[in-house]
Amino acid sequence: MAFAITQTCCSDATCVSVCPVNCIHPTPEERAFGSTEMLHIDPKSCIDCGACADACPVDAIFPVERLTGGQREYARINAAYYEGEDHRPEQPVRGPVFHDWGAPSFDRVLPADFGPLRVAVVGTGPAGMYAARDLLLHTPAEVTLIDRLPVAGGLVRYGVAPDHPSTKKAGESFARFLTHPRVRLCLGLEVGDGGVTADELAAHHDAVIYAVGAPEARRLGVPGEDRPGSVAASEFVAWCNGHPDVAPDAFELSADRVVVVGNGNVALDAARLLVSDPATLQGTPIAAHALAGLRRGKVREVVVLGRRGPQHAAYTRPELLALKHLSGVDLLVDDHDPAVGAAIDGAADQDKAAVLKDVRREAVDWSLPPAADGRRRIVFRFLSAPAEVRGEESVRAVRVTGAAGEAEIPAGTVLRAVGHRGTPLDGLPFDESTGTVPNDRGRVTGRPGAYVVGWIKRGASGGIGANRVCATETVGSLLDDAASGRLPAPTGSARSFRRLARRRGR
Ligand SMILES: Cc1cc2nc3c(=O)[nH]c(=O)nc-3n(C[C@H](O)[C@H](O)[C@H](O)COP(=O)(O)OP(=O)(O)OC[C@H]3O[C@@H](n4cnc5c(N)ncnc54)[C@H](O)[C@@H]3O)c2cc1C
Ligand SMILES: NC(=O)c1ccc[n+]([C@@H]2O[C@H](COP(=O)([O-])OP(=O)(O)OC[C@H]3O[C@@H](n4cnc5c(N)ncnc54)[C@H](OP(=O)(O)O)[C@@H]3O)[C@@H](O)[C@H]2O)c1
Ligand code: SF4
Ligand code: SF4
Repeated sequence: MAFAITQTCCSDATCVSVCPVNCIHPTPEERAFGSTEMLHIDPKSCIDCGACADACPVDAIFPVERLTGGQREYARINAAYYEGEDHRPEQPVRGPVFHDWGAPSFDRVLPADFGPLRVAVVGTGPAGMYAARDLLLHTPAEVTLIDRLPVAGGLVRYGVAPDHPSTKKAGESFARFLTHPRVRLCLGLEVGDGGVTADELAAHHDAVIYAVGAPEARRLGVPGEDRPGSVAASEFVAWCNGHPDVAPDAFELSADRVVVVGNGNVALDAARLLVSDPATLQGTPIAAHALAGLRRGKVREVVVLGRRGPQHAAYTRPELLALKHLSGVDLLVDDHDPAVGAAIDGAADQDKAAVLKDVRREAVDWSLPPAADGRRRIVFRFLSAPAEVRGEESVRAVRVTGAAGEAEIPAGTVLRAVGHRGTPLDGLPFDESTGTVPNDRGRVTGRPGAYVVGWIKRGASGGIGANRVCATETVGSLLDDAASGRLPAPTGSARSFRRLARRRGR
């Protein structure tokens, strides 16, 4: 028997480094890393030692014989990765790995006479925490960790859906660094907006790493999108997570149908939370006000709107597969355009459109209300772009267009799940077209001593684990600059920064 990687894998590759037989792929050194939705265990090479399961921060790895329900599928998914020519790993994976013990190299070591660097990390989401962890584990640096919110964790705390408790566990592996003896934690301290400025941070630290994420939800750019009832899906998920910026009464789910625009994982998270039986959410970290709101709510149907076909959806296969196992919830594909069915029927086994092969297809009559049979449903409507959010006082319907014509989908709430972008930070350059801070391998352009990591560096794409490799690159640039004397010397002391932070913090 072998182990298998399952739904919650966030591709941080922790398991790769502990596997004694190198049977988990793609590894960060392989070209395919970052382009696959998860990592895979080769069942023919796995020796069943369990080291990977112990190391996984999100509890994604289980012995194949212990997989139940929807998780069983993952035995096949792991094995299938090693079958196709395209997916064959670049390293041979049979038998134990024999390392070639060449000259040792220590990527993270500064010259012996180097004093500890004082580094500020702004943002305690995955990107900031991977960067801080790298500095703390591999150098004697002292780290000032700053976040505008009173609770650390970024989107692991306030974005990851509360019904994904295993993924939330990634926060636990970061949390142990919050109390590290070389960390000074400043929560409730904003960089900009009356808190500390970028210049003040630079004056008190050898280097500053900005890991501020991409907090702005992208807009649709269609008439009516600011009507009451039309909001960002990430705001809905933040409400479910008890985010301090979202009022407990922000959502009144009184309509029976909700349209979620977008085909990414955030769209699926929002759809799943809206139609799940609230009883199944009890006992998860969902905010009490959200659980009460969902219990009171009348939502029976969520329409997930994709402007492209099922073969181009941005969501990942594990998240789509999970929807098929939601109890009391039916899935339906709106058969309004023959191209949708053709894409599903023609999909190869490993394509995500193939997951919809056994899902019912039917042309939906949008003039009728959702079925009142006590079951809830998620309807996938592909090849339909939103053209207008209609209504008088508040949202009443969404008009959609596509090659097969127009439709008006009545709905009381519209959630925009069309991605995110970064926002400008005073004192740093900003590229409006990408919503990121211009940088070279993490070095902020034109600002020596300033670095970026995570979504503000690369744009709002990639799960938690993608930020690990990203942080390795940024910290590598910072340490290179330190070793070659390219960091501007700070003028203020650590103690004077502590006083400043106390005065400006909330
Ligand atoms: C709704 C949602 C759900 C997700 N669910 C998953 C999932 O289940 N699995 C998965 O693998 N990935 C998931 N992701 C993706 C994952 O969350 C991101 O890859 C990751 O959070 C990006 O990390 P980051 O550190 O760049 O940004 P963030 O996590 O956003 O962290 C940024 C931090 O910076 C702080 N900050 C911002 N501005 C300032 C300032 N001016 N001063 C001080 N502090 C500041 C913020 O408060 C925040 O704590 C999800 C994303 C979203 C939007
Ligand atoms: N469980 C998880 O692992 C999890 C959960 C949440 C988020 N995440 C990750 O976080 C990242 C961000 O996720 P996301 O869902 O916010 O973004 P995303 O993956 O970029 O998806 C955005 C979706 O919005 C669509 N879109 C963009 N503009 C549109 C418009 N004007 N009209 C209609 N549709 C439009 C895109 O369609 P096109 O493709 O046509 O542009 C795409 O389907 C992703 O990497 C995701 O995997 C992971
Ligand atoms: S989350 Fe990380 S450790 Fe867990 S299976 Fe995925 S890559 Fe491996
Ligand atoms: S159980 Fe052991 S051999 Fe198998 S994949 Fe995990 S670490 Fe590798």
